[in-house]
Amino acid sequence: MVSSSSSSVLVMIVSLLLIVLIGSSSAQLRTDYYRKACPKLLSTVRSAVKSAVAKEKRMGASLLRLHFHDCFVQGCDGSILLDDTSSMTGEKTAGPNNNSVRGFNVVDEIKSKVESVCPSIVSCADILAIAARDSVHLLGGPKWDVKLGRRDSRTASLSAANSGVIPPPTSTLNNLINRFQARGLSAKDMVVLSGAHTIGQARCTLFRNRVYNETNIDTSFARTRQGNCPRMSGSGDNNLSPLDLKTPAHFDNTYYHNLINKKGLLHSDQVLYNGGSTDSLIKSYSNNAKAFADDFVSAMIKMGDITPLTGSNGEIRKNCRMLN
Ligand code: HEM
Ligand SMILES: *[C@@H]1O[C@H](CO)[C@@H](O)[C@H](O)[C@H]1NC(C)=O
Ligand SMILES: *[C@@H]1O[C@H](CO)[C@@H](O)[C@H](O)[C@H]1NC(C)=O
Repeated sequence: MVSSSSSSVLVMIVSLLLIVLIGSSSAQLRTDYYRKACPKLLSTVRSAVKSAVAKEKRMGASLLRLHFHDCFVQGCDGSILLDDTSSMTGEKTAGPNNNSVRGFNVVDEIKSKVESVCPSIVSCADILAIAARDSVHLLGGPKWDVKLGRRDSRTASLSAANSGVIPPPTSTLNNLINRFQARGLSAKDMVVLSGAHTIGQARCTLFRNRVYNETNIDTSFARTRQGNCPRMSGSGDNNLSPLDLKTPAHFDNTYYHNLINKKGLLHSDQVLYNGGSTDSLIKSYSNNAKAFADDFVSAMIKMGDITPLTGSNGEIRKNCRMLN
């Protein structure tokens, strides 16, 4: 009797602790986090992103992708922004990032403008989240309130970035679903976030096999893409093609039309519409721009919540490339 009642008390205490722990892990991010401490933050970031995107539209895509690659490796903590040092090799040369992610100079510009209005207040991780939101909106996509209050990591790890947490473009549908699941994101979140490939560019080396060897591809689309991507590896590896053939600098739902027409550029794009469990979602987003925009916003907020550093963890970097 005694032992059963004391064990049920124990179960209650453990459950309460779990509720408190789970509830607090992302509860500390708030949309008004810097309202008093840095009232000019949002307008400062927006104008810096606006001028970068005016100079080069692709930069909007590049900034959005930086936030994704930041969040998937040890959480949204600015780890991707750290340069290598003699004692630490960071994420920048990892397989998914090397010669691929870009926009670091623009992040530096945004950060220095933010430092000039509110020194040592705003994290680099939060700047990435705001810049991603502004990029989507400036290219014609939805706008949303960004949750803030992340702090910056004191570490970055090459091996963590290479461990497969960021799925490669050769992934099967199952692998994509599993990689997102591992980050607390559903198959639906994965499908809707893949809609980010409505903007930006990819390198020949990452779609060569698809345009020469795959059969679930529109023939004339494949031929066009082969034109800028020589069959022999080594030549033209870095030649770029738009992920969305129709409107590569406009954030819309044409990505899903492309998939239905077998015009996905990456293998990992076309597997989302290839007779599998996600076909119906692709059809519904291709028919419903509003549903895509709404679900994209929810999924971005969820992705931005991946294990942030809060409270006294981490730091507010002065320079996004290095520890204080
Ligand atoms: C579902 C799994 C995903 C895979 C396998 C994947 C893979 C890729 C690849 C291979 C590229 C081209 C990189 C290069 O050519 O160097 C790319 C570009 C891009 N990705 Fe993804 N991606 C995925 C999900 C996402 C997500 C969730 C987002 C953002 C929410 C995103 C945003 C972008 C953007 C905007 C670009 C173009 C970047 C630029 O032009 O600079 N991707 N992705
Ligand atoms: C990154 O790319 C450069 C070429 O720009 C190459 O020399 C280097 O070996 C690559 N690093 C890794 C870790 O693959
Ligand atoms: C096509 O597939 C074959 C067999 O797997 C492979 O040897 C070849 O390199 C591939 N070609 C391209 C252009 O990727």
